[in-house]
Amino acid sequence: MQRPRGTRDFLPSEMRRRRLAENKLREVAESYGYGEIATPTFEEEELFIIRSGEGIVQELYNFEDKGGRRIALRPELTAPVMRAYVADMQFEPKPIKLYYVGNAFRYERPQSGRYREFWQFGAEVIGADTAVATAECIAMAVEMARSIACNVVLKVGHIGILRSMLRETGMDEEEQKKVLRLVDKGEVQDLEETLLGRLDKEKSQDLLSVVRNASSPGDIMNKLVQYPQARECFQKLQDVMELLSIMGVENAETDLAVVRGLDYYTGIVFEIEAPELGAEKQVCGGGEYRLAHLFGGTDVATVGFAIGFDRILLASDGADSGDLLPVLDYYIISIGDTMRECAALAKALRSRGKKVDMDLMGRNLRKAMKYASSRNAKTAVIVGERDAAEGKCTFHDMATGEDEVRSMDDVLSGG
Ligand code: HAM
Repeated sequence: MQRPRGTRDFLPSEMRRRRLAENKLREVAESYGYGEIATPTFEEEELFIIRSGEGIVQELYNFEDKGGRRIALRPELTAPVMRAYVADMQFEPKPIKLYYVGNAFRYERPQSGRYREFWQFGAEVIGADTAVATAECIAMAVEMARSIACNVVLKVGHIGILRSMLRETGMDEEEQKKVLRLVDKGEVQDLEETLLGRLDKEKSQDLLSVVRNASSPGDIMNKLVQYPQARECFQKLQDVMELLSIMGVENAETDLAVVRGLDYYTGIVFEIEAPELGAEKQVCGGGEYRLAHLFGGTDVATVGFAIGFDRILLASDGADSGDLLPVLDYYIISIGDTMRECAALAKALRSRGKKVDMDLMGRNLRKAMKYASSRNAKTAVIVGERDAAEGKCTFHDMATGEDEVRSMDDVLSGG
């Protein structure tokens, strides 16, 4: 039997690495005052269609359940979290700061760093419509990413700048989308041709220089004189950048070509990249958005992000891989008829918080020691029949080879 395409098994050493990384991210989230939320793995398909339009369906793992309901495995967790907010948290004091860790499913062509089942570590801040809320959320994303992979780059943009410029040019919705799609894909050549074919030279140049981030902030402000709404967005972006620098976020780049795949974002948008990952280098994406009103709630400002947990691990430098080996404090070896004594010792040591395993196979001493060494046990505890009769056992230090004979009663009673 084979695993379904685009899925993975995680063996114990990999799972340990993942859990350690997850715990680091949890610690960061809790240090910023976020509370954890969990939502179902599957939702009504409609939730994701309302969020992103019919186009999302081809990307979904969806099916009809036995009751005839259209169901989708979640492709991300923002829409489910906002559904839960509308159902149960709307009247709680704002802002509400939530984080989550969970698997998500997308029917995509699998490749390195792109899977059909993958994990996201994300956060949403609901109800704070300020630059400082957005900056703090971005700062947390960067701190999380850097806690696992040091070589990451933050790019921050504002979706409203290009959107309002395009609106001002008189382009219709479809044309605007086409242009934004080209910006998102970084197809600058096609973009230039499309703009020049549709607009006068001056307007095209204005847009292109914004997309290419070719100008200094002062120049951009001057260019935006004819686009007052875009100017306002740019001002907010500058406020956020200033706050990020105050919050100690280094190497934050302003990038007006970040449009986040034309999703549901309404304001500041950002991405974190790990350049060495090549094509799938985006390890985190997020921004400001409004979804609550689409799910029957009162409109509310929200900002959030999701770290691609699998990708950030691919980018992790492995500096801490020494910690990643599963280490046993004790491996207990029974020689002869001493299983009962060994089981009692294991229980006593475990109850003191030690990591303990014992020979379950009745192997001889040489083989059992070989296994203890393969499990990176620090100490082998050997209980032979004569030792047991005398109430003794031997603690063998696996690193130095030294033996210490101890009283079984002492060990059992916590000595
Ligand atoms: P997203 O950019 O679609 O945003 O996904 C976030 C991250 O998940 C990506 O940056 C990437 O690292 C990872 N990712 C996406 N697809 C895959 C895949 N097929 N395999 C492995 N990793 C993948 C969202 O999902 C939004 N919900 C983020 C957000 C939260 N915006 C506001 N709040």
